[in-house]
Parts: sequence; structure tokens; C-alpha cells
Amino acid sequence: MISKAVIPAAGLGTRFLPATKAQPKEMLPIIDTPVIQFVVEEAVRSGIEDVLIITGRGKRAINDHFDRSFELEAYLNQREHHDLLRQIRNISELVELFSVRQKEQRGLGDAIRYAQQHVNNEPFAVLLGDTIVESDNDKPVTQQLMHLYADVRAPIIAVEEVPRDKVSRYGIIAGKEVEKGLYRLDRLVEKPSPEKAPTNLAIAGRYILTAQIFGYLEHTPPGKLGEIQLTDALNTMARHEQVYAWRIAGRRYDIGNRLDYLKTTVEFALRRKDLAEDFRAFLRDVLREPRGRRKTRARSAPRK
Ligand code: UTP
Repeated sequence: MISKAVIPAAGLGTRFLPATKAQPKEMLPIIDTPVIQFVVEEAVRSGIEDVLIITGRGKRAINDHFDRSFELEAYLNQREHHDLLRQIRNISELVELFSVRQKEQRGLGDAIRYAQQHVNNEPFAVLLGDTIVESDNDKPVTQQLMHLYADVRAPIIAVEEVPRDKVSRYGIIAGKEVEKGLYRLDRLVEKPSPEKAPTNLAIAGRYILTAQIFGYLEHTPPGKLGEIQLTDALNTMARHEQVYAWRIAGRRYDIGNRLDYLKTTVEFALRRKDLAEDFRAFLRDVLREPRGRRKTRARSAPRK
């Protein structure tokens, strides 16, 4: 029933400057794979056939990444790097990709508005381009949302349980659990204090939206910084029609913030067969030894 996904990837990524001055944060690698590739792969594994990426100024690398690169293919072919060649070709054959440019970075809500023509009144999935979401079971979170949509026929927001003392970093939902893990949304609260937070369920960067969202976005006034927030539009929507939230069994990795980026890199490296053993030994070493001693040892090593 849902065949299209929208991946907003036009944000300026100011929290990751200077790395994002001339390259999109969505192209930051987790070891050797850009974040947005994980996101597109989740959409594909979920059964999405058509992906629209919202890009903007300075985001050309995203289009290039999913395009074919004949020079690179010829180079790898000549040197008989067959595995790499296969990987590179697979990326450009993942899915039918479209892109549209957000003219000014006026927030996530504004970015979604650029999808209106493309989704053509159909419900669609939204996957934030700077967020990897891993499911604890073999069904990707977007696919779980797509299946739920077939039942509830209303917008659904994926949410993740976060520690109470961290709620002030997130958009938090208020709602009533109507089935295990499924909430009827009452409202969304942006970055509440732990005392004021209605739940500890944080918006996790995956959504199913219906075309009605465009009407709400059109009437959502920009906030203090001139940005149109998707959460504001969803709040108004929840007042007029049914909106759901689905508590995911899994983990969200928000690459847009530095600490999470580092944690993601470490976790993913520890799962990689080709790296895990050496990397784990290295981490043990780093954590065991006081910094001063490491330096001394490094300096004295060549003399031995
Ligand atoms: P963020 O809320 O992380 O904003 O965007 P940002 O501007 O990219 O980053 P900071 O806060 O300046 O560091 C969440 C997702 O929405 C997209 C981003 O690319 C990211 O994938 N986005 C955000 C847009 O597409 N357009 C916008 O105007 C803002």
C-alpha cells in the first residue's frame, strides 16, 4: 500500500561543523559506508520502490553516491577488484531514486513540503537522512510502520524509549497505549524537562505520513528561527484526526550529534568481522592505560 519514501537530507548540519561546511552530514561514513546509504537500504529492505531525497545546496555528493561512476568501475575492473566493483554497482542499483532541492533550509517541516508533488496524494514513509534505525528483529522499522499503516490507515510516528533524565534532548510524545506498543497520539512536546515530560518516548526519525500533512504544514507558522517544524504540524494534525505512535524494538543512532556519531562508529566497528578483533584489543588497550603512559611507550618503542 505504501511504495514511496521521502528522505530529508537538506539540513545544514551545524552541529557537525566544520566537517559539514563542504560535505553533507548524511555522507559522513560509519567506517566505510555513508549514513544515508544505511537509510536507503532500510527503505529498500522494507519494500519501498521509489525514494525521493530532499537535498539542497552543497549536497551533490549524495546524488553522486547513488549514481553510476563509470570511471571508477573501469578502474576497479582493470585491477580485478571484483568485490569492490560489485559493491559500487549495487549502490547505484538499489532503488529508483529521485531528488528535489529544498531552496532554503527552513526546517524539516518545510523540507517535507517539497515531496508533495512526488507522493501524489499517497501515504508515504519518511526516514531522516541523518539517522540510522536498527530493529531488534528481522523486520526493519519502516516495514513495521508500513504494516501497521495497513491496519490503522493513519499517520504513525516511530518512537524510542529513552532514559528519563535524557528526555530534554528529544521530541517526546503524550498518548494512550491502545495496543502493546501502539499509542494514540495526544500531543508532542519538544525537549521537555524530565519533570514535565509526559512519557519517555522520543520521536525516532521514522514516520508514515498521509497527504493530509501538507495542508497542516502549509498552515504551520515558522518558529523563532524561521524554521517550519514537522512536530508542530503533527501536533495540529493530532488535534483534528487520529495520529499514532509505535514504540520500536530497536535502536536509533542520530548521526547529527557528535557523541552519538562516535558511539555508532564504535558499536558498528565492534560488529564487523574484518575489524572487531583488532579494534576490541585496541579499545581495551586505550581504556586500560593512562594517557601519559601510552605516550611514553609510543615514544620509547622505536628505541627497543
Ligand atoms: P536536524 O534537525 O538534525 O537539522 O535535521 P540540521 O539542520 O540538519 O542539523 P543541525 O541542527 O544544524 O546540526 C534532521 C533531518 O532533517 C533534514 C536534515 O538533513 C536531517 O536529515 N533537514 C533539516 C532538511 O532536510 N531541511 C531542513 O531545513 C532541516
